[in-house]
Amino acid sequence: MGHSRIFYFTATGNSLYAARQIGGEGEELVSIAQELRKTDRYYMAEAIGIVVPLYEFDLPRVVREFIEGSTFDTSYFYIVSTYGMHNGGIAQRVSARLEATGRHVDYYNTVIIADNAAQVFDMAEQIRIDPEKHVDEQLAAVRADIEARKHYIQPALQEEIDFYEGYMKHPFNLQPTNDEPFYRVTDECIGCGTCSRVCPGGCIRIVDTRPIYDYTNCAGCFGCLHACPKKAIQYATFDEPNPNARYRNPHVTLADIVQANSQR
Ligand SMILES: Cc1cc2nc3c(=O)[nH]c(=O)nc-3n(C[C@H](O)[C@H](O)[C@H](O)COP(=O)(O)O)c2cc1C
Repeated sequence: MGHSRIFYFTATGNSLYAARQIGGEGEELVSIAQELRKTDRYYMAEAIGIVVPLYEFDLPRVVREFIEGSTFDTSYFYIVSTYGMHNGGIAQRVSARLEATGRHVDYYNTVIIADNAAQVFDMAEQIRIDPEKHVDEQLAAVRADIEARKHYIQPALQEEIDFYEGYMKHPFNLQPTNDEPFYRVTDECIGCGTCSRVCPGGCIRIVDTRPIYDYTNCAGCFGCLHACPKKAIQYATFDEPNPNARYRNPHVTLADIVQANSQR
């Protein structure tokens, strides 16, 4: 089997953990947040994978930009989306969209894992129900598929299509802009700068020991909110179910997320 590469994007570690489990020992893992800083993106490998979170039933905007602006010279191109509750039939829909732009997807699957969308879910509850999702079994199955270079696009269940269509009629606006504040910072903030180090878009500067946001390159990933050691970052407009619970995949360290996302 030839050389292979996995590109990942992660805010709270689920997709990094998935990429590690799918790739196994010695697999080359590459951070999309870091690669996006390069203008010439040509990649050649026998197999190329994209392992990323699902945002609003689609690929994150930064991941779409990464794929659209890159050349993948490979005989096996695959995508795995990690998600928490509903995948909205993403595999069929996004594969078809990529095919329409001349990009062939050989394999697309999804893995259900903890949902880090803290504006709607209580993270303590997500951690509690995690064992019911059998994440490692799912990842082992995906890994076996990919090792066998299986051709498969996960079928979209009617229930998921309905869920997606219903959501699209009344979407949340989860893409922050500079028109209105998306996050607010409470007095618990100690100015440690963790938020700025985990941000994949380089959006946060610490000025006089306080984070200042410029949302221009914000990926809408919630990484800053989850990584704050004081839980001092909260949504400005959502009344979240549990502002005292934050999430990081238990197999991933803060240092891993900083390494994936920080400006170097
Ligand atoms: C902005 C945003 C939108 C999301 N939308 C969905 C969704 O539509 N359906 C779903 O099941 N999970 C959704 N999630 C949950 C993530 O897809 C899931 O927790 C993912 O595993 C996070 O990956 P990460 O830890 O690598 O960042 C969303 C998360 C964020 C931050």
